Parts: sequence; structure tokens; C-alpha cells
Amino acid sequence: MEIVFITTNKNKVKEITDLAAAEAKDITIVHLDYDYPELQLDEIESVARESANYIREKRAIKTPFFLEDSGLLIHALKGFPGPFSAFVFDTIGNEGILKLMTDKRGEERKATFKTVFAFSESVNTAPRLFVGATDGRIAEKRRGAEGFGYDPIFEVEGKTFAERGREEKNEVSHRGRAFRKVLNWVLLHLRDFFRLKIGCYMAGLDIKLCRA
Ligand code: IMP
Repeated sequence: MEIVFITTNKNKVKEITDLAAAEAKDITIVHLDYDYPELQLDEIESVARESANYIREKRAIKTPFFLEDSGLLIHALKGFPGPFSAFVFDTIGNEGILKLMTDKRGEERKATFKTVFAFSESVNTAPRLFVGATDGRIAEKRRGAEGFGYDPIFEVEGKTFAERGREEKNEVSHRGRAFRKVLNWVLLHLRDFFRLKIGCYMAGLDIKLCRA
């Protein structure tokens, strides 16, 4: 079965495609490079939900799709940059975050990376949210050459995300954790729907009649 992933971030596509290939062979991720407006809301959950609603309202896509929003929450900075992570990365970048953290030691460097997927089954149903989070810390300096965004400064179990290959990052990452929840739900709830659709199609029946 095919599910559309809407994002303009090619790194996210690679991570998600790898995860689906490794963990759900009968799910194919179809990437749609659709640039919806980045909403400035107070919570990552709201950004993901409202972005999916925007796409549903625009009727931009009528088949099942998902998108996600992610953010880095630094505990000593009261969860900053959180939902503003993209803006902060584009303005002050990793160097700016490291400067903000100069006087922070030990526990004060704790941070959490969070991803919220919004999965929309159809234009008529509200999106379903799946959350994944990984606790770590802000490294003292940038380390590693892999990944993207905040990966060189987000450290988990002694290694930054940028010091891990994609597979290794996926094992422990916020996105990996959230996406495994998406896959489990899709495999449980959507498989029958897709089977029915194929059955109807082969029997030449209207999907609505077939469902009744
Ligand atoms: P968004 O989900 O694309 O809005 O991401 C917000 C910001 O966090 C952007 O600057 C991304 O580059 C960054 N970001 C998102 N996911 C990750 C990740 O897995 N690792 C590092 N940075 C990320």
C-alpha cells in the first residue's frame, strides 16, 4: 500500500523511507514535495495538526497522507526553541544555540527532541497524531558530519546524531520512535481498507457500495 509523505525536507524523506523499508515492507512511501505554510503556533502538536488540516481544506491531496513537525526543547531554556526550531535554526543556527548554552553545565544541558506526525486518512476525518521523543543533551561543540539541522549538537548516549549513520539515528531518534507508532497503526487499521479497495476495484464495484 502507498502512503504519501508531505515534506520539502529530503533528509526526513530518507529517514522515513529507510524505516518503512526495514520495518513494513508492504508500505511504500510516496514523497510529495508540497510546500505548505510553516504555522507559528505554541505547540509542535498544533503545528502538525493544523498543517494537515490546511492540506485537507485545500483538498491538495485526497488519499491517505502524513506530515510531521519536529522541535528541539532545551530544558534550561524552558523548552526553547521548541515550535520555533526552524526559525531559530535559520537565524542563529547551531553556533547561536551553543553560545546560549555557554554557562550551562551537567544537567543544565538536558534537551529533548520531539516529532509529531499528523496522519490524515481522508479529507473527511480529523488527522491522528503520533508523538515520539528522545531525551539527550546539548553537546559542548558540534560533532559529526551526518544528518542535518541540530544533529551535530544533539547528543544521545555519548554520540551526537551527526556521529551516527541514518540507521543508527533511526534506532533512537524522536522521528524513528514516532514513525514506528504510525506504521503500527497503519498496519492494524488501514490494511483492511486497502484490501477492500483492491477487491472492489477488481470486482468493478464502487468503493462506497462495497463498504456498506
Ligand atoms: P521542522 O520539523 O522541519 O519544522 O524542523 C524544525 C527545525 O528542526 C529545522 O531547522 C530542522 O532542520 C530541525 N530538525 C528537524 N528534525 C531534525 C532532526 O531529526 N535532527 C536535527 N534537526 C532537525
